[in-house]
Amino acid sequence: MKERLTAQKLKSWKEQETPLVWLTAYDFSQAEMAEQAGVDVILVGDSVGTTVMGYDSTLPVTMDDMVYHARMVRRGAPKTMMVVDLPFLSYTRPDQALSNAGRFMQETLADGVKLEGGRRVLDVVDALIAHDIPVIGHLGLTPQSVHAMGGYRVQARTQETVRQLLDDAQALADHGIAALVLEGIPDRVAAYVTEQIAIPTIGIGAGNGTDGQVLVFHDCLGLSSRYPKFAKPFADVRHAIVSGIEQYGSEVRTRAFPSDEHSYHITDKEWEAFWSREHSD
Ligand code: KIV
Repeated sequence: MKERLTAQKLKSWKEQETPLVWLTAYDFSQAEMAEQAGVDVILVGDSVGTTVMGYDSTLPVTMDDMVYHARMVRRGAPKTMMVVDLPFLSYTRPDQALSNAGRFMQETLADGVKLEGGRRVLDVVDALIAHDIPVIGHLGLTPQSVHAMGGYRVQARTQETVRQLLDDAQALADHGIAALVLEGIPDRVAAYVTEQIAIPTIGIGAGNGTDGQVLVFHDCLGLSSRYPKFAKPFADVRHAIVSGIEQYGSEVRTRAFPSDEHSYHITDKEWEAFWSREHSD
């Protein structure tokens, strides 16, 4: 069994050849399966808002929602590093960020927190790290900024925005974050940022030149009803579930289920005794 990755080991992962495998999970059984499959890091993403809670974006997700899901994940994957997303507006000031990240560390036993943004969140990053809370950054397509971005659009496609991304990445790395998620940016840009900074980059929709990859559980397993271009379903679980439920429905309607094999029985002696008592007058 692999040892649980620590923030310190994560931070120095660049020395290793093998890319890191991150996967999101939102409940006990998903986390159990992710741990059994040997993922390096489980991210309790605020993507729980769209994948599990049925919202159109991650913005409605609250601290209480994240605590609720992260506690389940921790119970399912006690031996895997667990990073929990600070949700929208939960880290606008250092004191607020500290108390919210502290909740994740104490109430869910998280190994670190992830937050979105570059130089504008450095005061928050400093406060968390000063209190020994490992921080993971997230740049590029940052879903909590969906309105500012004008939709879920690929970022850093112009020379100016590539430079801004690089400056943000460098600043976050210099302030001590343990790893950086790069989402929805061109592959060459992600590879260049990866070369330029000393901490590992974890890509999602960022090509093959990062130090690791992360996928949303539902996209990875074929549970979603639609997929972004970058997502590859590695199993067809949605189809298996729908056809299983259809088969169940059909067997109930034809009384093929439950069969004798799936029923409980009473002995003839007990049943006959009951019957004669019931019909004695
Ligand atoms: O919320 C999430 O699942 C994420 C990943 C997409 C990186 O932030």
